[in-house]
Amino acid sequence: MTKLWGGRFAKNTDIMVEEFTSSISFDNRLYKEDIAGSIAHAKMLAKCGIISDEDTKIIIDGLNGILADIEAGNFTFEIALEDIHMNIEKRLTERIGPVGGKLHTARSRNDQVALDTHMYLKREIVNIGQLLSDLLAALLETAEKNRDVIMPGYTHLQRAQPILFAHHMLAYFFMLVRDFGRLKGVWERSDIMPLGAGALAGTTFPIDRHFVANELKFGAVYDNSLDAVSDRDYMLEFLSFSSILMMHLSRLSEEIILWSSAEFQFIELDDAHCTGSSIMPQKKNPDVAELVRGKTGRVFGHLMALLTVAKGLPLAYNKDLQEDKEGLFDTIDTVKFSLSIYASMLRGIKVNGTKMLNTLRQDFSNATDMADYLVKKGLPFRQAHEVVGKSVRYCIETGKTLTDLSLDEFKEFSPLFADDILDAITIETCVAARNSYGGTSPEQVELAIGRGHSILKEQYYQLDTYRKNII
Ligand code: ARG
Repeated sequence: MTKLWGGRFAKNTDIMVEEFTSSISFDNRLYKEDIAGSIAHAKMLAKCGIISDEDTKIIIDGLNGILADIEAGNFTFEIALEDIHMNIEKRLTERIGPVGGKLHTARSRNDQVALDTHMYLKREIVNIGQLLSDLLAALLETAEKNRDVIMPGYTHLQRAQPILFAHHMLAYFFMLVRDFGRLKGVWERSDIMPLGAGALAGTTFPIDRHFVANELKFGAVYDNSLDAVSDRDYMLEFLSFSSILMMHLSRLSEEIILWSSAEFQFIELDDAHCTGSSIMPQKKNPDVAELVRGKTGRVFGHLMALLTVAKGLPLAYNKDLQEDKEGLFDTIDTVKFSLSIYASMLRGIKVNGTKMLNTLRQDFSNATDMADYLVKKGLPFRQAHEVVGKSVRYCIETGKTLTDLSLDEFKEFSPLFADDILDAITIETCVAARNSYGGTSPEQVELAIGRGHSILKEQYYQLDTYRKNII
C-alpha cells in the first residue's frame, strides 16, 4: 500500500516493521475525536484563508461520510496505514480526491494525536466522574440505610472501639470525594488544546489556534508548541487518579471479603454479585470484590509503564509516546467497570447488625471509655490506662467482660468507680460519647451525611459544566 509519507522512500516497508510500528489495532477508538478535530481544523483553515470555503465543505462532507461508515461498520482499518490518523486521511482522499490532501496543511500527526487523546480523555472524565458520583451516592445510601448499626472499629485488625457502620461507610465516602477532586485536576490539565503546535515548532501558516479551541470546547491553548506535542502529564495524572481510586476500592474490597467470611459474618453479599465453586457445592465467593482488588495491579502497572516511557525522552515527539494509549484505554475500561459494578454490589449488601453487636458484647472495645470515666473523676489518663489494663487482664483470666464486673470488683481496681460505671461503658454510650467533629456519634454521623448530600449536589453541577465542554 502506498504510504502518505512514501515520497522519500525507495523501498517498501518491511511487513514486520509495519506491524510493529502500527497502532491502528488500539487507536481506532479515537476515530470520533480524530474526525471532530479534523473538521474543526478544516474550518479554521478556511476561516484563515489558507484553503477555500469550497474545499473545506468537500473535506467536511467527506469526513462525515467516513464517520458514518465507521459507525455502520463499513470501514476496514489497515495496518499498513499505521494509525487512525492516516487510515482516515487516506480514505478521505479516496473519497474526495486530491483535495483531501489539503486537510493536513499546518498540522502534524504529533499535534493531531495529542488533540485526539485530550478530547477522548475529557469525555471519559465525564463518564468516570458520573460513575464515581454514583458510587458515592451508593455509599451514602448504605450509610443511611444502616444508620443505627454499631460495629467493632479496628486498628491492627484488632478490635479497638465501637463505631457506627455508617461512619465506616462514610470514611470511604470522604476518601472517594478526594478522588473526585483529583479528577477535577485531571480535567483542568486535559482541557488544553495542543493543535497548531505542528510537528514541534508551530507552523508557517497564519492559523488561529484559539478558533479551534473554541470549536472543540477547550478552555485553554498550549503556550509552547514543544510542550504541546510532548506533554503526557494529563494522562499520567489520570493514571495516578485511577491508581489511588483503585487502591481505595481495593481496601474496601478487602473489608468486604473479610466481613462476608464465616469468621466475621458482618455482611452478606447478594447472590447476584457472587459466584460459586465448580467443586465445592457450598461456596459463595465474593469474586467481584476480589477482582476489583486484583485489577488494581494492572492500573498501577499502567501508571508505572507510562512514567517509565516518558522519563528519558528528549523533546519533542518520539515514537515511544505511542505506547501511552493501551494503558490509558485499559485503565479507563477497568475503572469504569469497577465503579459501576461496585455501586450495584454495595446496594445489594445485607448488613448483619446483630452479629456485629454480639461481637462487641464479648470484647473489650469499651476499655478506653472506662479509662475516660476515671479521667473525668480526676485521675491522670496514664494512671487510668494502667487501672483499666489491669482490669482487662483480670477479666481475661476469669473469663469475664468489663460489664460483667461487680461494683466491688471495680472498686478493687480504683476507689473512683461508682455505680454509674456500667452505664458509662455500654456500647451505645461509647459510640454516642464520641461526639467530637468528624467522630462516630450518631449526631456527628447525621451531620456528615448532610455534608455528603451537599457534596453530591456540587458534583452534579460540576459534571454538568464539564458535559457542556465535551464533543
Ligand atoms: N500513532 C502515533 C502515536 O500514537 C501518532 C503520532 C505519530 N507521529 C509520528 N511522527 N510518527 O503516537
